[in-house]
Amino acid sequence: MAVVITIANEKGGVGKTTTGVNLAAGLTLRLAGESGAGCRVLLIDLDPQGHALMSAGYGAHEAPFEQSLAALLVESPPPSVQPMLRRGIHHPNLYYIPGNRQAMVEAARLLPTLMANENRLNQALSPIMSFFSYIIIDTPPATGDLLVNGLAAATHIIIPVEASYLGVSGLRELQRTIDEVKRHFSPHLSILGYLPTLCEEQRSETQEILAELQRRYPGKVFSPIHKSADLAYAHSAHMDVFTYRPPRQRLTGQLSSSSKPTQEYSQLVEDVLSLTNYQFSDDPTI
Ligand SMILES: Nc1ncnc2c1ncn2[C@@H]1O[C@H](COP(=O)(O)OP(=O)(O)O)[C@@H](O)[C@H]1O
Ligand SMILES: [Mg+2]
Repeated sequence: MAVVITIANEKGGVGKTTTGVNLAAGLTLRLAGESGAGCRVLLIDLDPQGHALMSAGYGAHEAPFEQSLAALLVESPPPSVQPMLRRGIHHPNLYYIPGNRQAMVEAARLLPTLMANENRLNQALSPIMSFFSYIIIDTPPATGDLLVNGLAAATHIIIPVEASYLGVSGLRELQRTIDEVKRHFSPHLSILGYLPTLCEEQRSETQEILAELQRRYPGKVFSPIHKSADLAYAHSAHMDVFTYRPPRQRLTGQLSSSSKPTQEYSQLVEDVLSLTNYQFSDDPTI
């Protein structure tokens, strides 16, 4: 069964989409030597803006309504999800479901009026849970049914936190939303960790903020992602950073190149594989 990781933070501009895109691409590259479901990753973009989709399959954010994620969320009964799956343009084992901006905005408006509105993504994904090793869900920067659907479909949550005071102080409402989702839908839902993003080592408060995060969430803070032009350029080139700054010759399973963000997101990929107990097929311990 797939491990489903939702990237959540109700604040915008904290690196959710960057993290979702690079985690999904990084897992796909890292698992390239595996077979069957073991090498397949699905990226789901719940943000009507569709920025995560642009990196996985450019143009995929303007699909016809009936072939888009919005149809899965609002149609009763929902259409079958299998024919909607598309393969990514940079990584054939990175799948996505096309989106439609206007229909997603409409879906966010409609969902509160529908039955079982919080659990619709979870139900739509259940037929393909054994087809993937990881499903990564990017969420919009707002509280509401789209975010709740992302949380209710998840087994784990990663919370990117911008390394500034503002970033650290705004997490209480998200915690309340997560607690509600756990109470009503998934008691085993767990926060995999907090990911400090947009770090600037030369700013004096950065170390203080990282220490504060460690104090509040002991053992739950990933190695930080620093501010890097490569991440911004990769984003505007509609690529993940591993595709944008590849190594000179990529070995199977290799992620890092000389570009620092490839090393930092590669570390996140390794941490996620280990925290979710991914079993590699050549692991001598199994
Ligand atoms: N570590 C980083 N270094 C430089 N730019 C970044 C970094 N992380 C994100 N960005 C840029 O910041 C902006 C917001 O990031 P994004 O991932 O879209 O945040 P969110 O999805 O939380 O709104 C984007 O333009 C993105 O390219
Ligand atoms: Mg985003």
